[in-house]
Amino acid sequence: MSKLKIAVIGAGSISDCHLQAYASNPEVEIYAICDLNEGRAQEMAKKYNASKVFTDYKELLALPEIHSVSICTWNNSHAEISIAALDAGKNVLCEKPLCQTVEEALEVEKAVHRSGKLLQVGFVRRYSDNAQILKKFIEEGELGEIYYAKASCLRRLGNPGGWFSDIERSGGGPVIDLGVHIIDICWYLMGKPKVKSVSANLSHQLGNRSNIRNLSFYKAADYDAKENTVEDMANAMIRFENGASLLVDVSFTLHAKQDEISVKLYGDKGGAELEPEISIIGEKFDTILNMTPQVDFKSFDFMGSFSNEINHFIDSTLGRKETLSPVEDGVEVMKILCAIYESARQGREIQF
Ligand SMILES: NC(=O)c1ccc[n+]([C@@H]2O[C@H](COP(=O)([O-])OP(=O)(O)OC[C@H]3O[C@@H](n4cnc5c(N)ncnc54)[C@H](O)[C@@H]3O)[C@@H](O)[C@H]2O)c1
Repeated sequence: MSKLKIAVIGAGSISDCHLQAYASNPEVEIYAICDLNEGRAQEMAKKYNASKVFTDYKELLALPEIHSVSICTWNNSHAEISIAALDAGKNVLCEKPLCQTVEEALEVEKAVHRSGKLLQVGFVRRYSDNAQILKKFIEEGELGEIYYAKASCLRRLGNPGGWFSDIERSGGGPVIDLGVHIIDICWYLMGKPKVKSVSANLSHQLGNRSNIRNLSFYKAADYDAKENTVEDMANAMIRFENGASLLVDVSFTLHAKQDEISVKLYGDKGGAELEPEISIIGEKFDTILNMTPQVDFKSFDFMGSFSNEINHFIDSTLGRKETLSPVEDGVEVMKILCAIYESARQGREIQF
């Protein structure tokens, strides 16, 4: 059987994880790469043996032989490229966030329905082995009713600059870049309850802290210390119709002692932590038990999760599985993210 031809649009940092995962899937052929920066596209094409290189994604989408595409561009082009790809009859794996606004998200959803093609949102954390282990425990009732979740992703010095800190191209700072992951994974593990309201605060107190010396941090390729139009910290309380709540905080910069990532869920029978390390908390014979699943990676396994995500995507395009992160979920998460920005802007709670 001939291999499925896939293409990757956007050949920057994260595309390498997609490409590595595609390269180890025996059913696909990495066929085409596209980037506005031709040199970058060519480099990736050489590394992964892709036969075609483009700088205009529309030319790539015009090739009938392409079966599926990964979209790994800046956030401001996710909706436009997803819609064009779906309308061209391609299956789409779109990196998170799905797009920048709820209106765009609804347009993408419409394109999925009219094309009959698959769009998988790149909520990679859902595909981690640990998230799936926890999901199983939750589905089997080990936590009971989850009524509270709490998640943090705090960087003390971690504004990557470049397009990440240009609100036009990113849509926002740590909320849309980091919050999207931890909000999504909590919401998913809570059973995707319907959102009732969002109340949030945003700060622009510290800027990108480009004055800091002697401590390095990840910088985007086009880092420029003078450019920064995104928030540096945000916190939010998300209430759900079933009475549950989710408390979140995220930052690119903060006077914190150290970086922090945590994802915690609390139910009426038990609790769980996904980050920093997987752990399940229970109670038996009037005694509290902290249980540690014996797994290869206690924390988030970055590359393993990308492999799971890509393999699941390919299986879903072939009708063997259902995607774990359909467009509808991308739309709901966009509603939460946009409500966080709107609540902070208006200084009041947003009711859904
Ligand atoms: N799932 C994750 O954990 C994760 C991690 C990092 C980034 N991301 C997401 O991946 C996307 C890319 O992030 P990155 O870190 O790779 O950024 P990057 O800057 O390293 O790469 C983005 C590339 O996209 C190209 N590009 C932008 N617009 C384009 C267009 N219209 N057509 C063709 N190419 C275009 C740029 O030239 C650049 O080479 C973002 O949406 C980001 O949120 C996800």
